Amino acid sequence: MTGVVELPGDKSISHRYAILAALAEGKSEIINYASAADCRSTLECLRRLGAQIEVAGDRVRITGAGLEGLQVPRKTLDAENSGSTMRMLSGVLAGQRFNSAITGDDSLRKRPMRRVVEPLKQMGAEIITQEGGRAPLEIHGSKLRGIDYTTLIPSAQVKSAILFAGLYAEGETIVREAVATRDHTETALREFGARVESVDNVSQANKGRAMRIYPRPKLLARQLVVPGDLSGAVFLISSALILPESSLLLHNVGLNPTRARVLDFLVSIGGKIKVAAVQLRDGELVGDVSIERSDLAGGTVAGTQVAEMIDELPMLAALGPFTEHGIEIHDAQELRVKESDRIAAIAAGLRAMGATVEEFPDGMRVAGKSAGRLRGAKVESHGDHRIAMALSVAALAADGDTTIRDSECVGVSFPEFFTTIEKLRGAAV
Ligand code: S3P
Repeated sequence: MTGVVELPGDKSISHRYAILAALAEGKSEIINYASAADCRSTLECLRRLGAQIEVAGDRVRITGAGLEGLQVPRKTLDAENSGSTMRMLSGVLAGQRFNSAITGDDSLRKRPMRRVVEPLKQMGAEIITQEGGRAPLEIHGSKLRGIDYTTLIPSAQVKSAILFAGLYAEGETIVREAVATRDHTETALREFGARVESVDNVSQANKGRAMRIYPRPKLLARQLVVPGDLSGAVFLISSALILPESSLLLHNVGLNPTRARVLDFLVSIGGKIKVAAVQLRDGELVGDVSIERSDLAGGTVAGTQVAEMIDELPMLAALGPFTEHGIEIHDAQELRVKESDRIAAIAAGLRAMGATVEEFPDGMRVAGKSAGRLRGAKVESHGDHRIAMALSVAALAADGDTTIRDSECVGVSFPEFFTTIEKLRGAAV
């Protein structure tokens, strides 16, 4: 893996900029908007809510009509595969004067929504779910009141839904979390002009955080540049770490500290990764990341690290067979309710390739090099983009060919993944 890469825009940040641009007054321009299908789903939902959206390459121009400017959607909103779209928009929809419904694909309709529905109900929203608290959700727009809410599971999506609803509430809204999750919503809200501040609270666990939002700010249109997607970059970084003679440079990567813990972990197990040219742009840290092939020791991810690296865990698990001592993951039961059951999916894929994997309810142990080299196999992505990409990286370093079923699902977060890999491998020949 050799070469220089400009990554597509970060998926998490793109969703937030698009939603806030639709709620702001005037024409915003979002540059390097994610090419991820998930972020197109957000744009489609916002269009159905009356936002004017023009897409030109990686630039998205959104004309918002202010906080009260959304219109009754004529059709059910469709978040497709995107949990972020459904959960974060639920917070916005709860505060509208109209009713709406939001659905998703087979995977999203199986995922838990009570985590956002419960706090929004406490704020006064009326939301009807399907059995088990699943989507489609029927959201009856209501007059909301501010609450002081402690999240039950670490989830940036839940925190964001509450903060977005807080824009429409009577009085202040406070969200407390025991483990600090990604803070793109707070940062983006401030960029658009909302007042969001952290609340000092000694009773918070040392890693915890509490945020207060004040209602009904005047949100103003902005021009913003989305940093490159670090969660997508991690697949390229991992392949460079394990493939011989690799030397890779990634430009303009998002390095927000609530996202970049995965780099600390990879360095701590021996990864030769360097970060340079770091700058703060629109409230987000960005920089260049260079990677060289490395001898990896292996290690354990547990406790608060899990929320900090939640999307990177399938890739870290798939690095296990290429490390000295293997990779162990605990406290990650949340992985079972992502786009697929990611513990079962990655364990099955790696086992099919000859890895030794022990599965726990909340994680797994993937044995290191002494368990033998991986060999190509036919494996399932379970329609989950991060499983398809993690298995692809393992496949690149395995002996023989691997076939990954439904591999086109990579488009959900990183449509350019396979062409990028091809180009970087081509550069080495
Ligand atoms: C996201 C938060 C995470 C992550 C997801 C994107 C976000 O979900 O897994 O891919 O953009 O806020 P949870 O916050 O529900 O863990």
